[in-house]
Amino acid sequence: MIRQLKAPAGGLFLMLAGRYLRLGLAVLLLIPGLGMAEAESPAVAFGKGQQWSRPLAMAVATAHADATDAGLAIMAAGGNAFDAAVTISAVLAVVEPYSSGIGGGGFWLLHQAATGKNVMVDGRERAPLAAQPDLYLDEDGELIAGASLNGPLAAGIPGEPAALVHLAEHYGRLPLATTLAPAIRLAREGFAVDEIYRRMAAWRLEVLRASPAAASQFLVDGEVPALGALIRQPDLAAVLEALAAKGRAGFYEGAVARALVTGTRAAGGIWTLEDLSSYQVVERDPIVGRYQGWEILSAAPPSSGGVALVQMLGMLEALDARLGPASGEADRVHRLVEVMRRAYRDRARYLGDPDQVEIPVERLTNPDYAAGLARDIDPARATPSIARAMAPEGRDTTHFSVLDADGNRVAATLSINYPFGSGFVPPTTGVLLNDEMDDFSTQPGVPNVYGLVGGEANAIAPGKRMLSSMSPTFAATEDQLVILGTPGGSRIITMVLQGILAAIQGGDPQDWVAAPRFHHQYLPDQIRFEAAAFDDALQHQLSERGHHLAPADQRYGNMQLIVWDRTSGIVQAASDPRGIGKASVRKQPAALEP
Ligand code: GLY
Repeated sequence: MIRQLKAPAGGLFLMLAGRYLRLGLAVLLLIPGLGMAEAESPAVAFGKGQQWSRPLAMAVATAHADATDAGLAIMAAGGNAFDAAVTISAVLAVVEPYSSGIGGGGFWLLHQAATGKNVMVDGRERAPLAAQPDLYLDEDGELIAGASLNGPLAAGIPGEPAALVHLAEHYGRLPLATTLAPAIRLAREGFAVDEIYRRMAAWRLEVLRASPAAASQFLVDGEVPALGALIRQPDLAAVLEALAAKGRAGFYEGAVARALVTGTRAAGGIWTLEDLSSYQVVERDPIVGRYQGWEILSAAPPSSGGVALVQMLGMLEALDARLGPASGEADRVHRLVEVMRRAYRDRARYLGDPDQVEIPVERLTNPDYAAGLARDIDPARATPSIARAMAPEGRDTTHFSVLDADGNRVAATLSINYPFGSGFVPPTTGVLLNDEMDDFSTQPGVPNVYGLVGGEANAIAPGKRMLSSMSPTFAATEDQLVILGTPGGSRIITMVLQGILAAIQGGDPQDWVAAPRFHHQYLPDQIRFEAAAFDDALQHQLSERGHHLAPADQRYGNMQLIVWDRTSGIVQAASDPRGIGKASVRKQPAALEP
């Protein structure tokens, strides 16, 4: 679903147009035909090279209408994009419990308009202090099936509550009591079960049943609830209230912390009070790269997203320089697959928690290094990598994008890892715990649930953050700004790559988020593709080049994207048609107009 505000309505338009005309600038404001603009605005001439320093509207794109509406309402009530990010994250935690939550973590990529600051708030989970590399191995050194995915032993120490407090204290304008209120209300009063909820709950039914508190929170009589059934989460509402009242102490200390630790340990977990009290959010510099005049800002380690994106774009540029533009679709796909293959190989080799392992980020993101990686790409043949079993499809994780009318912006990707995370809720807390520990390389060379293999850099260690693929991203030229991201496990990075390339091509943002996708991650040596991505002829051409094709069982991803055209002021937002999300663009309320 796309929402577009092509011009401000009424007074704001006249005020802004008048201001720019007085300055001798001319401004084109296209006729609003779509979206939420209330009235048409007259067009005036366009002054080339002039830019709007602020968007003409605020915009939100999320995976759930309740989160989008709550985010817009908070901004309409005087909050900024960072306040909206707190609200949206918390609402998603309530209404999309299969994707993210305060029992999980994430990355919030921020741009603060007043200072020009770009920063990634790292609220990634970390391993409990008692975790050792052999946590999931039996006495023969074999992986214990499911141990890193199901139940409290699979859960890292959550980072989302600390990140929300950090956003509120350092970037927001409103108190947590205000920004968390919509989530508290939805947790207490309930939200209606949708089709995705039913599908995800069915998938994780046995795991949810194994945790009495999870079963009573998310199932009805031990079964998947009916469509439209209300899911009420009073325990979760109480924890959110504690967070609102006490800040991080409301979660990481006191009664809530004690209940979390007691509940996990009673069911075989290894959490301690120190794990919670010592958890810290980290502010990190985003990874920055350039491609065809665009600046790309994306997630820094412990996400692999930014490094891999910059590498892939650098390799594509090197290939263009060496071979000229791609000649046809098979050539274009071949090049993309080969750069994906190489970036994911580096991911496995080098990336992990930057606070615990040395990561040569500057070298890995240097254009000369990318050119070196691309040198052995044969334009006519696939480079083989070792084949392994393919990862199952997943609809874990969530992404949202926010732009406020001052130009503050947030791209945030949040997760509890697998659908419904570990499936475990410590009694009386209402907090569904993540199973992010599976993102570590639990055994060298053995693929995780996404088929990703990792090395020493991503081995389990006490207090270490596990490597992620979450890639909240800004892509910008002087004239255009795109805020984007998606869930999708290991495929997140290649989806964001394809989103960026589509945005650079231009056209309708709805087409960018809807476009059929394909993915390669080095191992297994397969191109996973949505049915609509490759027709028979293209499949044949790719096979002839030596590629192994693996059609995806279903469409994947759920991209949420905002575009601000700074030459026209136009703001557009698009939500992936694969999901049930909502993108909205709304004009600044009169009371808040600049
Ligand atoms: N749990 C998925 C990721 O962080 O990549």
